Amino acid sequence: MSERERWGSRIGLILAMAGNAVGLGNFLRFPVQAAENGGGAFMIPYFIAFLLLGIPLMWIEWSLGRHGGKYNHGSLPGMFDSMWKNPMAKYFGVVGLFASTVIMIYYTYIESWTLGFSIFSITKMYFGIEDFQQMTGFLKSYQGVGEGYFSSGWLAYFILLFTLFLNFWILRKGLSKGIEILAKIGMPLLFLFGALLAVRVLTLGTPDPNFPERNIINGLAFIWNPNFEALADSKVWLASAGQIFFTLSIGMGTLQAYASYLKPKDDIALSGLATSSLNEFAEVVLGGAIAIPVAIAFFGTDLTKEIAAGGSFNLGFVSMPIIFQKLPFGNIMGFLWFFLLFIAGITSSVAMAQPLISFLKEQFDWSHKKATNAIGLLIFVSVHLVVLYFQHGFLDEMDYWGGTFALIIIATMEVVIFAWIWGMDKGWAELNSGADIKIPKVFYYIIKYVTPLYLFFILIFWTYQQAIPTLLMEGANPESVPYMWLARIFMILLFVGLTVLVYFAWKRNGHKYKYDN
Ligand code: PHE
Repeated sequence: MSERERWGSRIGLILAMAGNAVGLGNFLRFPVQAAENGGGAFMIPYFIAFLLLGIPLMWIEWSLGRHGGKYNHGSLPGMFDSMWKNPMAKYFGVVGLFASTVIMIYYTYIESWTLGFSIFSITKMYFGIEDFQQMTGFLKSYQGVGEGYFSSGWLAYFILLFTLFLNFWILRKGLSKGIEILAKIGMPLLFLFGALLAVRVLTLGTPDPNFPERNIINGLAFIWNPNFEALADSKVWLASAGQIFFTLSIGMGTLQAYASYLKPKDDIALSGLATSSLNEFAEVVLGGAIAIPVAIAFFGTDLTKEIAAGGSFNLGFVSMPIIFQKLPFGNIMGFLWFFLLFIAGITSSVAMAQPLISFLKEQFDWSHKKATNAIGLLIFVSVHLVVLYFQHGFLDEMDYWGGTFALIIIATMEVVIFAWIWGMDKGWAELNSGADIKIPKVFYYIIKYVTPLYLFFILIFWTYQQAIPTLLMEGANPESVPYMWLARIFMILLFVGLTVLVYFAWKRNGHKYKYDN
């Protein structure tokens, strides 16, 4: 067994972990979720989910990862296998390889738009397009789903290829020389850009005196005025939990993969908490201070809600470019925004490849180069489906099953395996070994009882309210149905393929590891 790669430094590790967590979810997904779920009404269950799901699962995932790393396991099949002596354990872990890979396929596509729009901002390419419909047209034309501004899809395709190339170029350099350096450069820039934008937005006041109610104070009030009535609506609870998962990168296998490169005595308690805190700072302070307040200041609350409901990308890619044109140095502001998104995106997307890279190297003795090339090829080929069938909901279908539903399944399996099968006493000892802070004992009980119960409720509600109607494609556009099936078939094939790989891996290495616990 070859020497396991290691992180170069503690700060590098934390920045890489924060880079993993802070992503498009913080700046694009969070504002839309908050706007659609009633702003202040959303934030209460959101913080509850952070405390009772987010932080506990963050610790569980770091523990799973560091523990698995002792046995040279960087992905969930091996991590589960090392904690649960059941021949099925490794197959439960397949979801961990599946979710991260599925997400990477569509996430890199959206990431490439942010790079494109960075260029269009600095060069003022969309300047002059001042109303919604036309700006939506600009975005659609870029995405290749509408006529107009771009005569062909080649520019968008080229930018996508460049984005993929950049991702795999960094991944090829490995953990400490690729991912860690990217995070050390990218994360400070991201926070700087975010702070500059937030300050600009917060000093906007009332941009149009004809509409006194459209101002920044109302923008902030929308998110921060609690609304207790909406708490009776289970939809808000599901949405907030889903956001906590996505934004913290929980239930995807990537935090575990990163943690597997720690040394057995490295701290995880403080580092995990630091990662969560950095992510929440980026999300509620920076993410919450930009897209929504600025939209409310310029368009008012009702229109902002409408914009958010009109499509997941409208706040970020349509309303923002309109607003930038009204600001001094708008092209630079626009660049800051979209390039911030690009940094947030790429420091996350490199993480999504890591579980599968680790798996191929560890189980099949592939070289790093061979493993990254193979995954690069897989992503490159698959992304074409997302691009070609984008308008038929291919991306949304992958996001639903791979980027939403799978996360809850994985998190539920993890907490059960960690706290109940492996056992909470062992789990607690693992979490506290090498710890630089003393975790309050109440978390012992939260992890053991509250988190699993919370997850079971979510799982039941989610399945009943959303998964079943989604599965039956209720309300889907009939024209899109065949493409949604194609997306499902694609995902099933990927899942089966990964399961077969796990089968062969254990057949090949069956007795390679001895777990001493
Ligand atoms: N947490 C990232 C975000 O907020 C997304 C992500 C998904 C990161 C999967 C890693 C793995 O955008």
